[in-house]
Amino acid sequence: MNLIFLGPPGAGKGTQASLLSKTLNIPQISTGDILRSAVRAGTPMGVRAKSFMDSGSLVPDEVVVGIVEERLQEADCSSGFILDGFPRTVAQADALDAMLVRLCKQIEHVLSMSVDDEELLTRISGRRMCEKCGKGYHTLFDPPKVAGICDLCGASLYQRDDDKIETMRKRLVEYYNKTAPLIDYYTEKKLLCTISGVGTIDEIQSNILRGLEGSLRDNS
Ligand code: AP5
Ligand code: MG
Repeated sequence: MNLIFLGPPGAGKGTQASLLSKTLNIPQISTGDILRSAVRAGTPMGVRAKSFMDSGSLVPDEVVVGIVEERLQEADCSSGFILDGFPRTVAQADALDAMLVRLCKQIEHVLSMSVDDEELLTRISGRRMCEKCGKGYHTLFDPPKVAGICDLCGASLYQRDDDKIETMRKRLVEYYNKTAPLIDYYTEKKLLCTISGVGTIDEIQSNILRGLEGSLRDNS
């Protein structure tokens, strides 16, 4: 099954995409995670992306489109994939359509997660990430067993540079200006499935699985 997670920063795209990736045994492709790895590794793409990410702006379309096209051709995407954080502009969505035609693939569902701005700010300000395996936590809503330490690999947790409140506000503005128009884009293509992002992580996961039930039956 080929899926897209759409939603504002902090809506829970990464959290839910990671759970669903394990349930369906298909890869989660997070352009944010790929870009952060490139920044850490100091590659030319990472150097180019860093200033955009630090300021809360979107990275130029041509950079992320190239990343996704390469990633979708890897063997683990043959039985499906979950795009987390891509596409983020109408130009990216058009580029995705064209690349899917080239790769003989199609998107089956776009899961759009909605959460109000106040809750988004609370979620982002408490988010912590594992510096080694990338697992995400929240200091209040999804804390690790030992504060500051990843449950899975024992490495230290850190706060993302772009999770500062001023940068977060800029990311929200970018979302409403450039990404929210994709809700209409995918509604017109009859692919949109709206999921409330409010509730516990487990409740939302159950709602997503219920929403996908018909397709999961057809694919099995
Ligand atoms: P990216 O990494 O994609 O960040 P984002 O879209 O801003 O989204 P987040 O990762 O902040 O939120 P999320 O929805 O994944 O929430 P999460 O599950 O972590 O992008 C970062 C930057 O990279 C962009 O600003 C841009 O510069 C660049 N970029 C990336 N893709 C791009 C593209 N396609 N085009 C151009 N530029 C691109 O949850 C948040 C917190 O809430 C966590 O702490 C979690 O534990 C907690 N939480 C989750 N669910 C719940 C719940 N139900 N209840 C309570 N807490 C919850
Ligand atoms: Mg994310």
